[in-house]
Amino acid sequence: MTVTTKTALVTGAAGFIGSHLVDKLLEKRIRVIGVDNLSAGKEEFLSLAMVNDRFEFHRLDLLEDDLTDILGGVDAVYHLAANPDVRSGSLDTRPHFDQNILATYMLLESCRKANVSKFVFASTSTVYGEVDVMPTPEDYGPLLPISIYGASKLACEAMVSAYSHQYNMRSVIFRFANVVGPRSTHNVLHDFIRKLRENPNQLEILGAEPGTSKSYIHVSDTVSGILTGSEKAENLVEVYNIGSRDWTFVKDIANIVVNKMSLKEVIFNWTGGVNGGGWVGDVRKMLLSTKKLEKLGWVPELTSSEAVELATMDILSE
Ligand SMILES: NC(=O)c1ccc[n+]([C@@H]2O[C@H](COP(=O)([O-])OP(=O)(O)OC[C@H]3O[C@@H](n4cnc5c(N)ncnc54)[C@H](O)[C@@H]3O)[C@@H](O)[C@H]2O)c1
Repeated sequence: MTVTTKTALVTGAAGFIGSHLVDKLLEKRIRVIGVDNLSAGKEEFLSLAMVNDRFEFHRLDLLEDDLTDILGGVDAVYHLAANPDVRSGSLDTRPHFDQNILATYMLLESCRKANVSKFVFASTSTVYGEVDVMPTPEDYGPLLPISIYGASKLACEAMVSAYSHQYNMRSVIFRFANVVGPRSTHNVLHDFIRKLRENPNQLEILGAEPGTSKSYIHVSDTVSGILTGSEKAENLVEVYNIGSRDWTFVKDIANIVVNKMSLKEVIFNWTGGVNGGGWVGDVRKMLLSTKKLEKLGWVPELTSSEAVELATMDILSE
């Protein structure tokens, strides 16, 4: 059953993926309320939205502020606010508990009180942990994350499901592969470009050659996937993977960056990594099955390498 959304609230609206989602929802003439505490997000990412009459922005913190009042009249909540930094979780576990689990719980409570009918949640491929089935389908199990970040997102998924069943709120959970594209502020591409600008002769790479192999998806494909899945989901709780159909090795990414920066004979210094990954909690291989979302008509337009290439050029042109 397709339910038309008239008013959507997006958390993490000033973030990388959130700001692109806001732009697309507005293009579809949906009224959008953006919420962000601007801890990582930037108001400039919302410059298009800010001049649109159907957009309003609230600088609020999910852990401090009660959203129940502004949720009145909202048909769909897109919850993207989070601490998305997988690597930091092993150094300090508390931020992922607070910003992901607690913040999601508090938002769900407000949604319950405001009778929100649809909840869309940004989850991650890291909920799968190290898997033995690839491409990994949504019904793969048991889900045993190897990072605190992945665990925090899995806890959120469980709460979203329970709130849906207990309070009759439809929910759609998206497990993203690695998302790249304009307005990203932190990922392997930024790391490589920063290091190569400091020293164009050599590049330190976390892990052992050729590095982890993962699926990368452009933010444009990600947002079109979110819109397709959230519009067409049939069941009370639905889970969709969003990723490209292939993967790329860290070494290939390094070569793409070196190429796009027009550098030659760069020496790659591999650190050796941890348990075959780049750092503690880094999954070695990730490729998601996207057949479920593709059955609804969505297609990822770019391969992993194409997405990485385009995103690299975007960062270099900033
Ligand atoms: N980027 C990826 O590759 C990727 C992959 C898998 C899943 N995800 C998930 O997608 C979502 C968006 O990720 P992103 O890459 O755009 O991250 P981002 O950091 O750019 O965006 C998150 C936004 O949430 C805001 N925020 C954080 N805590 C908040 C709070 N307590 N109250 C209000 N606002 C708060 C930040 O200011 C930021 O603007 C996250 O939930 C992330 O876990 C991202």
